[in-house]
Amino acid sequence: MRADQDPRPDTGQLPTFEDIYVRAGQDFGAIPWAALAPNPALVSWLGRQPPPSGDRALIIGCGLGDDAEEAARRGYQVTAFDLSPTAIRHCRERFPGSAVDYQVADLFQLPAAWTGTFGLVVEIRTLQSLPLPQRADATRAMAAAVRPGGRVFARCLARGDGEPPVSRPWPVSHRELLGFAAAGLRETEFADQPATPPHGRFFTAVYTRPGPA
Ligand SMILES: C[S@@+](CC[C@H](N)C(=O)[O-])C[C@H]1O[C@@H](n2cnc3c(N)ncnc32)[C@H](O)[C@@H]1O
Repeated sequence: MRADQDPRPDTGQLPTFEDIYVRAGQDFGAIPWAALAPNPALVSWLGRQPPPSGDRALIIGCGLGDDAEEAARRGYQVTAFDLSPTAIRHCRERFPGSAVDYQVADLFQLPAAWTGTFGLVVEIRTLQSLPLPQRADATRAMAAAVRPGGRVFARCLARGDGEPPVSRPWPVSHRELLGFAAAGLRETEFADQPATPPHGRFFTAVYTRPGPA
């Protein structure tokens, strides 16, 4: 068995994401990934794209909502979801009157109405939160939401294809990202970038469904 196919990540003692949000309460500093600002890699990438002119965007595992708000500010019609009801409550409270449609939803049971609907799907740090055996299903579910000509923007901690993941967040291998390609999308951008310690590096990648943009 290859290291990156190890089906036994150490999930047993880990708190769920809902546990982490609930325990933090209003102390967002206790949520390790909560920057309370949009992800700089997404901001930079969106800044290089043509105006979306009302296209729809789906934000996967949206956490506290900053990436969703950024996409909406840029002109996307945004749906953002998270498995954690507490995270979604925070989004609605932090951004009252937001144009974003925030929803509690499970990536693995997305509404059928979302299939093939979105011009942009944003995946930031959710894949790396999922145990390895769920990653093929996760990339398939994300890809299914992309309309012809639409794209997935993915940003995650990276590991080599043969490298064993150690602890959550479990960095993502390029082979796992190619689940988007297996689901019918083409890899149109891929960057392997250094990260600040203690993290090793990031992948930033874009996958595009063939069709008119
Ligand atoms: C590390 S956090 C990242 C949050 C946000 N994307 C960010 O970068 O700040 C991972 C998020 O994925 C959510 N999540 C985990 N499993 C999920 C699932 N099956 N469906 C939807 N969201 C999920 C968690 O609740 C959590 O908010």
